[in-house]
Amino acid sequence: MCGIVGAVASRDVTATLIDGLKRLEYRGYDSAGLAVVAENNELDLRRSVGRVASLESICGGISGQIGVAHTRWATHGRPAEHNAHPHTSSSQVAVVHNGIIENHNELRLVQKERGFVFSSETDTEVIVHQIDWHMQQGQDLFNAVRTTVSELHGAYGLGVVSKHEPGVLVAARSGSPLLVGLGDGENFIASDMSALIPVSQKYMVMEDGDIAKITSTSIEIFDFQGSPVERAVLISTLSDEETDLGGFAHYMKKEIHEQTRAITETLEGRLGADSVLDLPFGENAREIFDKTKELKIIACGTSYNAACVARYWFEEFGIKCDVEIASEYRYRKHVVNEGTLFATISQSGETLDTMAALEMAKTLGYINTLCICNVPESSLVRASDLTIFTHAGREIGVASTKAFTTQLVTLLMLAICLRRRRLGDGRSADVMEAEIVQELRSLPQQIENALDLEDDIIAMSKHFADKNHTLFLGRGAHYPIAVEGALKLKEISYIHAEAYAAGELKHGPLALIDEDMPVVAVAPNDELQEKLKSNLEEVRARGGKLYVFADANSDLESDESTLVLKVAPVNNYIAPVIYTIPLQLLSYHVALLKGTDIDKPRNLAKSVTVE
Ligand code: M6R
Repeated sequence: MCGIVGAVASRDVTATLIDGLKRLEYRGYDSAGLAVVAENNELDLRRSVGRVASLESICGGISGQIGVAHTRWATHGRPAEHNAHPHTSSSQVAVVHNGIIENHNELRLVQKERGFVFSSETDTEVIVHQIDWHMQQGQDLFNAVRTTVSELHGAYGLGVVSKHEPGVLVAARSGSPLLVGLGDGENFIASDMSALIPVSQKYMVMEDGDIAKITSTSIEIFDFQGSPVERAVLISTLSDEETDLGGFAHYMKKEIHEQTRAITETLEGRLGADSVLDLPFGENAREIFDKTKELKIIACGTSYNAACVARYWFEEFGIKCDVEIASEYRYRKHVVNEGTLFATISQSGETLDTMAALEMAKTLGYINTLCICNVPESSLVRASDLTIFTHAGREIGVASTKAFTTQLVTLLMLAICLRRRRLGDGRSADVMEAEIVQELRSLPQQIENALDLEDDIIAMSKHFADKNHTLFLGRGAHYPIAVEGALKLKEISYIHAEAYAAGELKHGPLALIDEDMPVVAVAPNDELQEKLKSNLEEVRARGGKLYVFADANSDLESDESTLVLKVAPVNNYIAPVIYTIPLQLLSYHVALLKGTDIDKPRNLAKSVTVE
């Protein structure tokens, strides 16, 4: 992960670097640093553990017209000042790096023999010593970086400056996102455009194998062999509006409450009078959907949970659907049946495991690739044949909320499009489709109803704040909703939470039940509710404490061992979206009571661009 910003200008760039880092903190926030080439042509390096604000507090008096900066999510070496980036070599060269260098041990041995002294435990430090070495052998900065990257194995986005060439910023990319921002008489690099909102709207996306030589007035991009390459200049649509907290205490709370609007926008333009439209999935979506017999979906974390919910929809509609975690998918052999569409789901569009899975899938004979994503300018979108955006708006809280529910809605729309092909010509909707479409239209209001449960959930959260473990139960499509609820709770409250398909309880986890293990259950009014009730009895009979989100029409009632919170009746297909909301609110309020860092929980980052 990690965030990179670099700038070269004819003004002091320190404030731009710090501001850019603040905007990239979602990529990692255990330490931060920057290096500028100061007026005396010496490198001025500042690094600190913790947030960018703590770096800012030690940057007084620093000034330079070129520099690189970094916010870190530790991979090699614990979060510590000496492991923070930039790394320097003999105070000659400074490097910021996102990614992992796999042959760092081999390089380190050679460099030690050459007399380089290591001051960190990072894999990155070998990069800066290697560049320094090649400059000592007579190469200029650009060529020293080019030679160095040919010696690296692994993934990297790099920003490099040297005191010997104070007007040149060099950037290189292989496997970790990096782009070049174009300014007026100044230029920039960044992991993504959000870092550059105040200074640049125009940008070029560096591709794997690109190396850029950037001055305040010129940008030249080459491949690693040194041949010039052309990259299109794009216009970013990002703005600062979405980063306003709008009176909420945390982005997570704001984003939970934004789900009404987010889902309204995700549905906009995608529904006909009584059907789901094919075209929003892409120009050639119709032809691709006509050929689709099966679906393979790959994702990570919350996005994976969305896929697991959707599998119930696809298979109910007669479309075989296989779902797998990206980091597992990429390291095994595959049998691809004819007519299988490969789909990825990602909020950020930058998750490295998902990207790598997509690249691998392209070699395996799938009919096409489809991406469900929230970030238009992302790597996954660029690499996919078809894309449909979840119009959730920017999600800043590390714990994914509105991205998840908009993914669900998008997946249900996809399932309906494919269902039509099962029915006949694939073009005309039937009564059932018309009914689901009406339910989709009613979702925003139903989400409002679910959000109205917040006061009751605040009261419920007091029962969790002093607990160390929690179980979440669900059945059918609500089993992955329980999994998502458990993920949210552990992520932001640090309470250990596990989810089980309720029917699995008796095969082991029942042994854990006691009064210190709250059990959360998701109980919509579906055909599995009676089965679920039996499972809840198993918990009750063993002295367990139950917290049940149940359909208002069900006969589940509170008693001394059970607290039932009634959810307004909802159609089975959209119930998973609605039942997600109280689980999100529960996690938020438990974390609030525990006083954790809700938007930036420990050890995590918003965008996971390492393996
Ligand atoms: O950006 P992506 O959807 O690809 O991210 C995948 C996971 O890293 C992400 O969903 C993660 O699990 C969230 N922090 C969960 O809240």
